[in-house]
Formats: sequence, C-alpha cells, structure tokens
Amino acid sequence: MSVITTIEDLRVLAKKRVPRMFYDYADSGSWTESTYRANEADFQKIKLRQRVAVNMENRSTATTMVGQAVKMPVAIAPTGLTGMQHADGEILAARAAEKFGVPFTLSTMSICSIEDIAAHTKAPFWFQLYVMKDRDFIERLIDRAKAANCSALMLTLDLQILGQRHKDLKNGLSAPPKPTLANILNLMTKPRWGLGMLGTRRHGFGNIVGHVKGVDNLGSLSEWTAKQFDPALSWADVEWIKKRWGGKLILKGIMDTEDARLAAGSGADALIVSNHGGRQLDGAPSSIEALPAIVEAVGRDIEVWMDGGIRSGQDVLKAWALGARGTLIGRAFLYGLGAMGEAGVTKALEIIHKELDLTMAFCGHTRIDTVDQGILLPGTFPA
Ligand code: GLV
Repeated sequence: MSVITTIEDLRVLAKKRVPRMFYDYADSGSWTESTYRANEADFQKIKLRQRVAVNMENRSTATTMVGQAVKMPVAIAPTGLTGMQHADGEILAARAAEKFGVPFTLSTMSICSIEDIAAHTKAPFWFQLYVMKDRDFIERLIDRAKAANCSALMLTLDLQILGQRHKDLKNGLSAPPKPTLANILNLMTKPRWGLGMLGTRRHGFGNIVGHVKGVDNLGSLSEWTAKQFDPALSWADVEWIKKRWGGKLILKGIMDTEDARLAAGSGADALIVSNHGGRQLDGAPSSIEALPAIVEAVGRDIEVWMDGGIRSGQDVLKAWALGARGTLIGRAFLYGLGAMGEAGVTKALEIIHKELDLTMAFCGHTRIDTVDQGILLPGTFPA
C-alpha cells in the first residue's frame, strides 16, 4: 500500500484485510441505502468561504464535550462487533483514542467487555446502552459501567428494532463466524485477521455472554436483537435510566425537533442528531440536513452533537459551523482499525485532525471556538 493520506485509503485496505461479513456489516445501510449515501453526499454540497491574509499561527481545535476536554470535537462512536474488524478491536481503539485525546464509546454489542476496556486504559471511557427486555441485566450493565468509572452513558433511542441490512442476512452475520464453506474460503484470504483472532480469547459478545442467564452464544445479531431488545422503550425508561446512572447522559438517535424537545426536557446533557449511519430508517434525511433545525429548536438547552457521514476533518468543521458542539465517527475509525489495528485508528484520528486544523485556518480562524456559520457559503447549506 502506498502512503495513506485519507480515510478512503484506510477503507480500501480494510476491505482487503477484514472478512467479508464484518467489512460488509460496517459498510452498509438499511434497505436501499439512500440515507447511508446521503449522510456523506450532503456534506459535499456545503461550500466553505476562503479567507486570506489572516494570521494563522497558534491554532487550536480543542474544546469540551459534556464538560470533558477533547483535542477536537470528535468522539469514537459506539459500533457493534468492533472486535471482529480486528482482534481485540475495542481495546485497540480505546487506547488510540486515549493517546490522541478524544473520548472512546464502547457499544453494548462489543466483543471486548466493559471490564476489558477498563483494564487496558487509564482515561475514563463512555458506555453506550441498548435497552433489553431483561431489566435486571440492564441494571447490572449500568452498574458495571459505573464500576468501570465510565464518565458518560450514551443511551441509543433509535434501535428498539433492527433495520434490515440485506448483506448481513445474505452473509449470515454472526460472531464468531460459523464454519460454513463460504466463510472458510473467505477467511483463508484474510491471514492477518485470522492470526490476530488466534491470539485472543475475545470472540463473542463480551458484555452479554456469561452475564445474561441462558445465553452462551448469541447466534445471529438479527435474531438476538429481535428476541432481546425492548420494542416498548419509552421516555419513562429514559427517566429511570438517568436516575439509576446518576452521571452524564447522552441521548443518541434524534432526528426530529419534537423528539429533540423531549430529549432536552429529559434533563440529558447532550443529544446526538443521528440516523444510525443510515442503518435504521432508510428514507430519513441525512444527519447534516437534520442538524440545523434541531440546533435552532434546542441548542440553547442541551449540547447538540451529530454523527453520520463524517469522513474528513472538513465534515467535522461543517457540522460545527452548523451548530454541532461535537461529532462522532464510526466507519472512519473502523476502516482504520480493520486496515492496521491501533495504528490505523490513530491514523484516522490524525487525518481528521489535520484536515480540520488546516480547513479552519483557510477559513480564517485559529480557534474552533470562534468558528460559526459565517465560514459557510450562503445558499450551499441547509438552514
Ligand atoms: C448496531 O448498532 C448496528 O447498527 O448494527
């Protein structure tokens, strides 16, 4: 591989190195994938205003997210099965994030457990919660996140039921993969991945297997979600979860101003404008298109963040200019992880940071705090 300079370079390398079913799991949206594509494409339509002869010395992209210092307004998003993109993937990504100075969020559906991450990092991380029917398990999960010193809980509200992603069904997605002929043939072409997996015992859903009565193997993700996730999740649940947790709470998956008002009214510390990377309701607008109306509705009452479609530091700056006080990257870091493990996640963060820093300067700013809608060319962004 020649020199890696973009997230796209990492994606191409990850596609070569990661078994098809896990690469496809990350790189897909639901149904026609129109929302998945729009998330990225809509960023491209927004144009920046170039300013010149402005002193560009001493730049800083540093800010805070829910009161926590970050080197740039970017956190690692919770992504399921991260430890299947690369052996011990969540531990490696958490370490890269810690060294870089951005938050790492561990998914409920991770391969490495909450305790694994706590044992391998020093900086507090964030834990993402899915609500399941078994409330005892959820209470214990919240308590485990507290015991691991997690500094925020991120409650996902847009996945009570799973959007259909055709490739996952066709590939028979499961962790670990089932020893079918098609899987064995595909795995034989991924020796680095296989060697890594031989070197770890973490092959299943670390937060769940051994913690939920009667579950020693999850089978397929779609079966598990259909059986265990609670389709009756409501705002009343948000309230008891907030109480049980008692710390910083982030609500993920808000796309509508009415829901945004409910989220702000719940007393949460931040909300994330997100369509789950285009993986849930296909046909929903892109996240960047939905962002401005939500900022307008509740931006004074709650920190508004966004995720979906971020593949560059320019995208981060555009989201910031439209009022997002933070962003999350999912696929951008997963491609780095699948391509090169911890070094690949670091590379993804470095690429995004460099692009953010230079673009901010070209737009005439030296500190991200001063950047606002004024850097965008009128008429090219959703208002
Ligand atoms: C789970 O969060 C998924 O999008 O697969």
